[in-house]
Amino acid sequence: MSVQSDKIFQSIISHAKEYGFVFPSSEIYDGLSAVYDYGPNGSELKKNIRDYWWKSMTQMHENIVGIDAAIFMHPTTWKASGHVDNFSDPMIDNKDSKKRYRVDHLIEAKADILTNEGKADEAEALLKQMDILLAAEDFVSLKQLLADNKIVCSVSGTSNWTEIRQFNLMFDTQLGSVAEDANTIYLRPETAQGIFVNFLNVQKTARMKIPFGIAQTGKAFRNEIVARQFIFRMREFEQMEMQFFVRPGTEGFWYKFWKEARLQWHLSLGIDAEKYRYHDHVKLAHYAKEACDIEFEFPFGFKEVEGIHSRSDFDLTQHQLYSKKKMQYFDNDIDETTGKAFGNYIPYVVETSIGLDRMFLLILSNSYEEETITKEDGTTDSRVVLHIPTKIAPNKLAILPLTKKDGLPELARELMDECKPYFKCFFEEKDAIGKRYRRQDAIGTPFCVTVDHQSLEDKTVTIRYRDSMLQERISMDKVKDLVLNEIF
Ligand code: GAP
Repeated sequence: MSVQSDKIFQSIISHAKEYGFVFPSSEIYDGLSAVYDYGPNGSELKKNIRDYWWKSMTQMHENIVGIDAAIFMHPTTWKASGHVDNFSDPMIDNKDSKKRYRVDHLIEAKADILTNEGKADEAEALLKQMDILLAAEDFVSLKQLLADNKIVCSVSGTSNWTEIRQFNLMFDTQLGSVAEDANTIYLRPETAQGIFVNFLNVQKTARMKIPFGIAQTGKAFRNEIVARQFIFRMREFEQMEMQFFVRPGTEGFWYKFWKEARLQWHLSLGIDAEKYRYHDHVKLAHYAKEACDIEFEFPFGFKEVEGIHSRSDFDLTQHQLYSKKKMQYFDNDIDETTGKAFGNYIPYVVETSIGLDRMFLLILSNSYEEETITKEDGTTDSRVVLHIPTKIAPNKLAILPLTKKDGLPELARELMDECKPYFKCFFEEKDAIGKRYRRQDAIGTPFCVTVDHQSLEDKTVTIRYRDSMLQERISMDKVKDLVLNEIF
């Protein structure tokens, strides 16, 4: 990360804390590494992103329904899914500093340095080589790659490394009071398995016909060894996942469909397409047949925000095997080539999986601007503004009586009472109006309305637009619809 990008990223983190978006968890005890709490504005923004995703999945697609499965699941779930045996990352320890690193993170950091030095081709070649070695699980060559590229521990500065080993990322805990093996359960590392084990419950009760999807949002937990970059990589985080069940043989079509559809969802928030790119996987997860990431250009470079995975019939087949319960679907549509019904089969699955916290960071990074304003008289001023898309902004409208007297707060309250059943509003009567505008800019409120003495006479107000800072006079009874038009 360049010095300038690092400065901006640090400013975003400070801003997020100062304005009640994100706090370090249990901060009075010096925090807990890679765990964060969301404050008043943060929890609104997070909820709005979640709702925007949920609506796009379960309301805009008639063949997708939602569920809310428990975090704790029968431990065999994770044996069947392959997470007990395969959900691990290659790690390496530095013998001098005793620090542990994910090998791919060390190599990615080196690639970032090369890119910043203007050696983008070298960086790309390094990452390509890493992908190939990771896919082959060739840890000897991977360690050699560290040596060849003079990758050292940032704490000790040495390359005195241990061998590379795999570490499982699942947290376990005990169910009940007796600490025996049989009672060991896991905190789910992905929400997807709650969908797979409920596949037939949902299909039957919601009377779904293939192709159909099941969507879910909820917490997931991973014991990330190197958690870093604020809320980008956390140990407790939230996922928004959708498993789309399809007829075998059609998964290639649906993989392409969801790859494109998910990028369009991101762009529907008005985010610049240039900031996105796809990254097709070379090293596939243990369940994947084809997979790609949607990457976004964070201040620390292009990084994954969402994954689209063609998971074949792996999960349902595994659950059928371990539970000894049929996971089949009966398809009575007619196969044109045979003239007979498709009959019983285990569906194939295409998954879309996005981290809610990572999407939150994407929105913050993309919205944050330290703006210099040139005024009409040629002097300059500055403001920090969050250009959060109106649809997901924590507050949609701030209602600001110019003074605390002359009946202005009462009139402003009338507008507040009219609007607050429809969208989140903020009411404030303290401080000079310019100061109040700046505070709203800093939390991303798209519209501010000032109620002044003229409002008492003709029921008009001044509306100020966050991004352009333009102001205009409009009738008070038009405010609610103006905001509603921007939200839907
Ligand atoms: N069910 C598939 C699955 O979990 P993944 O690529 O491991 O796939 C999906 O995770 C998404 O979850 C990622 O694209 C990322 O946005 C988010 N995610 C994964 N690990 C995370 C972590 N430690 N902290 C925050 N978000 C994470």
